[in-house]
Amino acid sequence: MARLGKSAVTSETIARAVKEFGTPFYLYDERTILDKCDQLLKMPNAFGLQVRYAMKANSNRALLQLIAGQGIDLDLSSLNEGVRATLAGIPCSRMMLTTQDVPLARSRQELEEMMLKGMKYNVCSLQQLYLIADFANKTAFSIRLHPGVGSGESVTRNTGDKYSCFGIHLNDLAGAIAFADEQGIVFDEIHMHIGSGGDPQLWRENIERELRCVEQFLPEVKTVNLGGGFKEARMPDERPADIQELGQYARRKFHEFYERTGRELITAIEPGTFVVANAGFLVTSVLDKKSTGEDGFHFLIANAGMEANTRPLLYGSRHPFFVVSKTGRLLSSEFDLSDLYPESDYRVVVGRCCESGDSQSLDSHGHIIPRLMANPEVGDILVIGGAGAYVSAMCLANYNSYVQPAEILLRADGEFRIIRREQTLEQIVENERSL
Ligand SMILES: Cc1ncc(COP(=O)(O)O)c(C=O)c1O
Repeated sequence: MARLGKSAVTSETIARAVKEFGTPFYLYDERTILDKCDQLLKMPNAFGLQVRYAMKANSNRALLQLIAGQGIDLDLSSLNEGVRATLAGIPCSRMMLTTQDVPLARSRQELEEMMLKGMKYNVCSLQQLYLIADFANKTAFSIRLHPGVGSGESVTRNTGDKYSCFGIHLNDLAGAIAFADEQGIVFDEIHMHIGSGGDPQLWRENIERELRCVEQFLPEVKTVNLGGGFKEARMPDERPADIQELGQYARRKFHEFYERTGRELITAIEPGTFVVANAGFLVTSVLDKKSTGEDGFHFLIANAGMEANTRPLLYGSRHPFFVVSKTGRLLSSEFDLSDLYPESDYRVVVGRCCESGDSQSLDSHGHIIPRLMANPEVGDILVIGGAGAYVSAMCLANYNSYVQPAEILLRADGEFRIIRREQTLEQIVENERSL
C-alpha cells in the first residue's frame, strides 16, 4: 500500500476514485479530519476549552457536519457562513461571528435573528460597537482586539500588526470600554487572532497580552479566545505547531492568572488550517507535457490549476506533489524523492489557464520553482496535497470558464461520498442576461 505522504490515503484509493469520478476533484479524508478534531479537543487547558472551527477554511456542508459532530463549534467570518452552517443543521448557539462586515439593513435583521437564537457576536470595530449597542440588554458580546503584533506564514496572513486592520486597536480599548459601560454592554469574551501559520512563540506571547487586557479592562470576561493560526506542515521540511505544548503553556498562564485574580477563565481556540489542510487533495490528470529548451523547464499541464488551488499564486505556498500511474502505482512522492535525478527530474506543474502565473509551484514573487517528481505519462494522475484548507473555499472559480471541481469525501469505511457535485457550465452563466 503506497500512502500519500503521512496521510492514510493510498495511491490505489486515488486511482479508484479517478476511475469512478474522473478528474479533477477534491478528495477529503474523513479519518484525518476526525484525528485532527480529537487532537484539538484534547488540547491541555486550565478551566475548560471551547474549540470553534474557522469555517472559512472549508465550508462544505458535509465537512461542517462531520466536524460539528465531534463537538467542535464554529467561527464564522460572515452572516452567509452562518446561513450555510444553519443549512448544515448546526444551531446558532454553536456559532460566533467575527466579521469585517458592518451589519446594516437586511443583514442587521438577519444578525439579530441569529443572535436571538444564541449566536455570539464578536465586536471587531468601534463602528460595530456603536451600531450594536442597542442590542446590549439582550445578550453579552465578545470583543476582538488588535494586538499590534502579529505573525503569519506570509505577510498577507499576518492579522495582528499595523499592516492589518482586524479588531479594535489596544489604543482604543479604554474608550471602547467607557462607551460599553455607558451603554450597559457586557463583554464576556475577549478575542485576538494574530495570523495564520505564524511563529508559535508570538502566539504564546499573545496569551499574556490578552490576559493583561482582561485583568486591566474586562472584569466580566469568562472566555479568552486565543484565535486560530496553528501552523500545519504540508511539506516534509515543515514543522507543525505542537498543540500539546501550546496548550500546556496556555494552561500555565491561565493558572497563574487564577492565582493572581481568583478568576477561572475558559480557553477558546478557532483553528481552520489545522483541522482540514492535510485532509485534502486536489486530484488532477496530466493533460500535456512541454519543455522550453536547454535552460528552460519541463512542464506538466494538469487539468486543474490556479482556478482550483490559488494558494501558490496568492502566497507562494508550497504543496506536496504525488505522481500516480493510471493503474494506481505511486511513481513519486514529495516525501521520498530518493529515486529521482536532480539533472533531469525537476518539473513544473501548471494548469490550463491562459495565465503564466497558473502554476502550482511558485515563490512569493511569482517565480516558477521547479520541483523533483517522476515523469508521468499523459493521462497519469497528479495529486496536489495539503489541499483541504483555503483551496476549494478560496479558489478563483470559473476563471477561463472552468467549472468548480466536485468534492469527494473518503469515508472512514473506505467508501466515497460526493459531498459537492461538479459545477455545471449552466450554473456559471445562469445569472447573466443578454443585452
Ligand atoms: C479570526 C480568525 N480566526 C481563525 C482563523 C483560522 O486561521 P487558521 O486557518 O490559520 O487556523 C482565521 C484565519 O484567517 C481568522 O481570521
